[in-house]
Amino acid sequence: MQMQPGYSVVQKLLHWIIALCVLVLIPVGLWMSSRATANLWDTLTDALYAWHKAIGFLVLWTMFIRLLIKLRQGTPPYPSTLSTHLIITAKIVHGLIYVLLIAVPMLGWAGVTAYPALITIGGYNLPALPFIPKSEALAKQIFNLHGVLAMTLGVIALGHIAAALKHLMIDRDGVFQRMWHNKT
Ligand code: HEM
Repeated sequence: MQMQPGYSVVQKLLHWIIALCVLVLIPVGLWMSSRATANLWDTLTDALYAWHKAIGFLVLWTMFIRLLIKLRQGTPPYPSTLSTHLIITAKIVHGLIYVLLIAVPMLGWAGVTAYPALITIGGYNLPALPFIPKSEALAKQIFNLHGVLAMTLGVIALGHIAAALKHLMIDRDGVFQRMWHNKT
């Protein structure tokens, strides 16, 4: 099988760092908000919130870097065995994931700015997002949207993982390796 050129080392590294962060952020987000709903305000809940905010903020800025790299370098060509239909579907799914990976942390940041609850790990405060008024009611609406879009992201990511594993184990067409290791 002839290997197609893949993504750069930096693109691959950022992809897997963000994947790992999202894998942590969704369960931690659900866990901490269930503790908040149960009115369990202790050091564990505080730590979960602090880490969730810090890791989510990191994802936001890493996504901006990824977006800049993608706009400059584009996407490496897919193997000729893939149909145009499949490539268009992949581009739509990847586009949606990019949009959600920026919208979800932006909403989290907007929510903690409105509440306000900017405190994060080590007692440090995140900067406030400009133009967001202080209002607990607004913060709750923003957090609802944050949660719904985060779960949408989780579902789309599961489809993305399933497709990647199909390329790795069934199609064996080198598409998975584009994001893992590749010999160009
Ligand atoms: C890709 C990044 C992120 C993902 C995937 C994510 C995911 C989630 C999830 C799944 C929940 C639980 C929602 C629910 O219970 O319905 C949540 C809650 C929350 N997230 Fe995020 N989050 C991200 C980034 C951020 C950022 C950057 C911040 C703030 C700086 C943040 C602040 C919060 C807060 C405060 C809550 C609790 C809301 C509440 O108690 O109602 N998140 N997040």
